[in-house]
Order: sequence, then structure tokens, then C-alpha cells
Amino acid sequence: MRPTLTMTTFLSGIQSSGYLHLGNYFGAIRQHIDATSEAGDHFYFIADYHALTSSRNPDELRDFVRETAITYLALGLDPERCALFRQTDVPEVHEIAWLLSCVTGMGLLERAHSYKDKLANGVKPNVGLFTYPVLMAADILAYDSDIVPVGKDQIQHVEMTQDMAGYFNNAFGKHAPEGYAFVRPEYRMAATERFQKVPGIDGQKMSKSYGNSVWIFESGKKLKKAIGRVPTDSREPEEPKNPEELVLFDFLALFLDVAELGDWKERVQKGGPGAPGYGHIKMRVIEAMEEYFAPARKRREELLANPDEVERILQAGAEKARTRARKVRDRAMKACGLR
Ligand code: ADP
Ligand code: TRP
Repeated sequence: MRPTLTMTTFLSGIQSSGYLHLGNYFGAIRQHIDATSEAGDHFYFIADYHALTSSRNPDELRDFVRETAITYLALGLDPERCALFRQTDVPEVHEIAWLLSCVTGMGLLERAHSYKDKLANGVKPNVGLFTYPVLMAADILAYDSDIVPVGKDQIQHVEMTQDMAGYFNNAFGKHAPEGYAFVRPEYRMAATERFQKVPGIDGQKMSKSYGNSVWIFESGKKLKKAIGRVPTDSREPEEPKNPEELVLFDFLALFLDVAELGDWKERVQKGGPGAPGYGHIKMRVIEAMEEYFAPARKRREELLANPDEVERILQAGAEKARTRARKVRDRAMKACGLR
């Protein structure tokens, strides 16, 4: 399907529709950062065009884009090892999106879970929301991506990308000198199961749109308030409990090492005098989270004070990304007879 001996290409993106939360970090960003230590080419981008499907506030959107870039860098993404860029800086993606939309049936898009969920939640759909998966497929195919590290809820979008690449290749691949137009990508999920679907403070999947998320850099009183909202019950600390049934333990599990987590579980399970109460467990979650993100919080402050440096990184990333996207666009345009 594609020449052997080429480097593996990793690509992923995150929509800049809000401040990033613990689910985004453990389910997606952390995987992206870890993947950059694997041999290959790495592309990570801020899906700002996608964010416009729901944003109606320009100042907020600008802020979210900047914040998303700074969050990646503060958490340790090394711009020397990858291209970090804004989707809007690579216009070739839109040309590819049009090519894909001309071979994609309406039925495929109508089956998208995220679209159906939004409708079910009363969102009035715009055309951009409906064709969201086509733009996402173009994002992926534009760089000949092999591996797309994402959270569980994005898997269907990657599968739809495989379908779209297949439709186009079947129709036109044989006309390309390379024998294909697009490379078929595979998704990759976080290896640790509890990171695949991080719960929110109400126990449902953490999501910006459910009002149950905890910002990665939350601290102090606001963090206390957020964790304070994690549901508990009226049982006394002495009463033995099953830690697996407590949402609080899902939070603890994000930050503690195996030995300490095991110790907390054992004490809660045993109960009796000296067993920790809910307040005590919440304090440990807060402390552990603050400690976990302390170095990144410091780097975030430095980056906030240095917007020119962030912009320089994004521009350099866009340049690398465009070089690749132009090649892929030209190959696909030739294949279908538009060149
Ligand atoms: P949200 O649901 O908050 O709008 P996005 O859809 O923008 O989040 O997701 C951005 C990335 O973060 C995706 O790869 C997604 O799979 C991942 N992600 C989002 N929420 C979670 C979660 N609760 N657990 C694990 N991964 C998540
Ligand atoms: N849909 C992803 C999200 O909600 C963002 C995204 C857009 C993306 N294009 C992509 C992710 C391509 C991976 C690959 O965050």
C-alpha cells in the first residue's frame, strides 16, 4: 500500500474548545507526549477549525487556542521532536477534505456517534458539525499518518477515516504513480485502561460539555471545591467499603503509585478505627494532583509570559506540516484528475 522503509508517522489533534481537563491529559495528551520518544515523525495540532463548530466567542476561541498550545508545551511536549501547529495554518487540509467529501456517502456521516449524541443533547446541528469527521479524516490523511493516538471516544472517527481513505483509493488509487492516494491509519489508545475513559466529578465520563471536568492546572481553593463535589455517601470511616465502587478512588488512581494506592484501598476495605474517611481521601487527591502537575504549572507561567516563543514554535510546526500536506494533496489531486 505504501513504500516500505519510510518512517512511521504519528499524528493527533485536540479541539481547542475549552481549557483542557484530566480526561484530555490522561486519555490523549500524555499518550501524544510519550509517543514522541518512539522513532518516527510526529505531528500534533490544535483543531481550531473544529472548535468553530460550537464556538461563538472570538476572544474565548483565541484564548483556548493559545491555552491548548501552552498546555502541551508545559506538560512536556518537546517541539524539537515533533511539529506542533494550528490546524488553520495548514489550508491544504481543506482541499483534501473536499476530495474526501466527494467520495463519502451521507450515510457514513449520519452514523457518527458524536454527531448523534450532540443531536440527542439538543444541539442544533450546523453543516460543519455534520461534516466534522470529513475534516478530521483530512487532518489525518494529509500527513500520511500511520498511527493516531486518541481517547476511546475518537475511535469511530479514525475508523471513518479508514473508510474514506478506502473509498478514495478504490476510486482513484490506481491512477496515482505511487499506486495509492492515501495511507490507511490505525488508532492507538492509552495502554492503561483507567486512562481510556477518565470519570468526571459526577462519575460519568469527564467532558467539557458535561460540566464535570477538572482543569489540569486547577489548584488551591478551586481545586478543593471541585474535588469536594465528587459524590460520597453518609457511611462512617469505620465502616468497611469496596474502593472499586468509589469514584474518589478513580481519581486517586490517576496520581498515586501502585504501592500507595494499594495501601489506601486496603485501609478503606478493612474499615475500623483509624480508617480514612471521605474528607481524608479527598485531601490526598488534591495534594497528589497539585504535586503531580507542579512542574508543568510552573512552565505554563513561563510560557504565558513568553507568547512570542509559543508563536515561533507554532509557525515552525506549521511549516513542517505544510511541506508534508502539500505532497499528499498533490498526489491525491493528480490521482483524481484535478491536476
Ligand atoms: P471533551 O469530551 O471534553 O470535549 P474532546 O472530545 O475534545 O473532549 O477530546 C479530546 C481528546 O481527549 C480526545 O482524544 C478524547 O478521546 C480524549 N478524552 C476526552 N475526554 C476523555 C476522558 N474522560 N477520558 C479519556 N480520554 C478523554
Ligand atoms: N476530534 C478531536 C477532538 O475532539 C480533534 C481532532 C480533529 C483530531 N482532528 C483530528 C484528533 C485528527 C485526532 C486526529 O479532540
